[in-house]
Amino acid sequence: MELKNKIEEINASITATPVANKEELEAYRIKFLGSKSVIKDLYELLKSVPNESKKEFGQLINQVKNAAEEKFTNASENLKGTEKKESSSLDLTRPGEVNELGARHPLAIVKNEIEEIFNRIGYTVSEGPEIEDDWHNFSALNFPPDHPARDMQDTFFISKGDGKDPKTEMALRTHTSSVQVRVMENSKPPIRTISPGRVYRNEAISARAHCFFHQVEGLYIDKDVSFADLKQTLLYFAKEMFGENATIRMRPSYFPFTEPSAEVDVSCTLCNAKGCNVCKYTGWLEILGCGMVDPDVLKASGIDPTVYSGFAFGMGIERIAQLKYRVTDLRLYSENDIRFLEQFKSDY
Ligand code: PHE
Repeated sequence: MELKNKIEEINASITATPVANKEELEAYRIKFLGSKSVIKDLYELLKSVPNESKKEFGQLINQVKNAAEEKFTNASENLKGTEKKESSSLDLTRPGEVNELGARHPLAIVKNEIEEIFNRIGYTVSEGPEIEDDWHNFSALNFPPDHPARDMQDTFFISKGDGKDPKTEMALRTHTSSVQVRVMENSKPPIRTISPGRVYRNEAISARAHCFFHQVEGLYIDKDVSFADLKQTLLYFAKEMFGENATIRMRPSYFPFTEPSAEVDVSCTLCNAKGCNVCKYTGWLEILGCGMVDPDVLKASGIDPTVYSGFAFGMGIERIAQLKYRVTDLRLYSENDIRFLEQFKSDY
């Protein structure tokens, strides 16, 4: 039978045709699976086969077609594998790519350093919310309603509240002293803690003022805590932060929540207290506010002022960073200029 021979011939040819590379595979596809393939021809010939044999030959031709397709699929799968290998071949002698390390933000570096210094003398770290109620930011800290001291800090108010309960009136906290109150409300003396965090004031942004900045609050409450303890603690801090030669001086000041209150200057480490443009030729740099916690504040926070006393202090992280790194424009801290940030790479 002519058709039968032809089928066998094509079968043999399918097996014999090489498909080892792209070109051979394409030739194979055209020959056996293309629109003018030899197998298509077989279907043409099938038309002239007598009806009683049509089924038998039809099946034979289908088998050939399947075999042709199977070989094609397998071969193209195999080729894909080898192609991938070729394109991903590695040159192990090439120099490696350097992964650039980022830098810590100068404010984070200074914050971490302050935390470490106080950790060493037993202070824990505590935090409070940035959206704060009037009670914790003002009232409990001895700022009565309408007291002029509230104007010391220009506040971003959020909601007025019910006009009776200061815990219903909300604002962005103006200082981290609010965390003092929260810690005293929630724990029993002895308390030794520092509270770093962001604070907000409604000020026009310039080189010397910003609408947000960062503070670290310190609080120490126990029996018989005295002003001398405060002074020694701050002297220890100044020496750890600015070097063994640093000295401090205290100037009387006023805060509603401390009595007595003081502002603390550290000797200018940039000019060895000789006088330079950073210390305005005074030899001193102001770094923080502090004082003995007012008995009314202790009472408002649930601590008995006849048994306990304590001190508090608050410093600006930007200010300390300015002295450490001579950053003279506050805006640099939040502009994310990579040329500024990269300078702190080696400073952990
Ligand atoms: N909260 C004060 C401020 O922001 C600083 C301060 C803290 C003063 C603790 C005394 C005691 O200016």
